[in-house]
Amino acid sequence: MIITIAHTKGGVGKSLISFHLAVAMGAAVIDLDFQRTIIINNEMRVNNGKRSIAVLQTKTMQDLIKLRNHNIKNTGTDKEKNFIIDVGGFDSDVNRVAIAIADLIIVPANDKTNDIIGLHQFKQIIEEIEESTNLKLQPMLLINNVSPMTKDFISLETFVERNKNFKLLKSILRTRADYYKALETGTGITELKESKAKKEFKKFIKEVKKEVKNGQKKD
Ligand SMILES: Nc1ncnc2c1ncn2[C@@H]1O[C@H](COP(=O)(O)OP(=O)(O)OP(=O)(O)O)[C@@H](O)[C@H]1O
Ligand SMILES: [Mg+2]
Repeated sequence: MIITIAHTKGGVGKSLISFHLAVAMGAAVIDLDFQRTIIINNEMRVNNGKRSIAVLQTKTMQDLIKLRNHNIKNTGTDKEKNFIIDVGGFDSDVNRVAIAIADLIIVPANDKTNDIIGLHQFKQIIEEIEESTNLKLQPMLLINNVSPMTKDFISLETFVERNKNFKLLKSILRTRADYYKALETGTGITELKESKAKKEFKKFIKEVKKEVKNGQKKD
């Protein structure tokens, strides 16, 4: 299974979500971000005596396609591996391939005006990938880093309503200090004691697994 966490907008939570998801799922991470966030998170993890997560240095389009073919060949067998691709907050050919080969594309998004503008730009990239590959993509919007008080997300709901190729995940990850505090020691949120952040993240993982299963049924 390949889960790509993508958004051309910076600072939406791609790396934070990639790391916590990788620890929780025992997945390998492909860090496509030149800031090497996940590699550094993992170094902190090892320095704090925790078992390293696999961080791959796959950097070329050919490598990504090879990975995809390997996974397709081994689907449903115990050789099938879970990969999480942390795409950097920019547009590039490699990042587009990372989106095209994903079983699931997760797009962290906030409900702030500038984030909605950013989503429109990302949507255009998705459409260009669809045109050049003939694939039908369905990016899943994940509401992330929103106030624990906010109840309605009309701007994001309207975006999804108007852009039917996007889908809104039910899970919401709110702004919780536990996520970045855990990162200081390279700890996954699911490795900590119960907290609101952990509860929300576990719900998100459950939904991710369900979406992947649904996607496989359709193939
Ligand atoms: N749910 C959340 N709760 C609290 N802090 C969050 C949450 N999501 C993201 N953040 C914080 O927002 C900042 C940006 O997150 P992150 O680095 O993961 O974004 P990114 O999308 O990977 O950015 P870039 O595009 O630059 O790679 C970080 O300081 C992170 O700790
Ligand atoms: Mg990042």
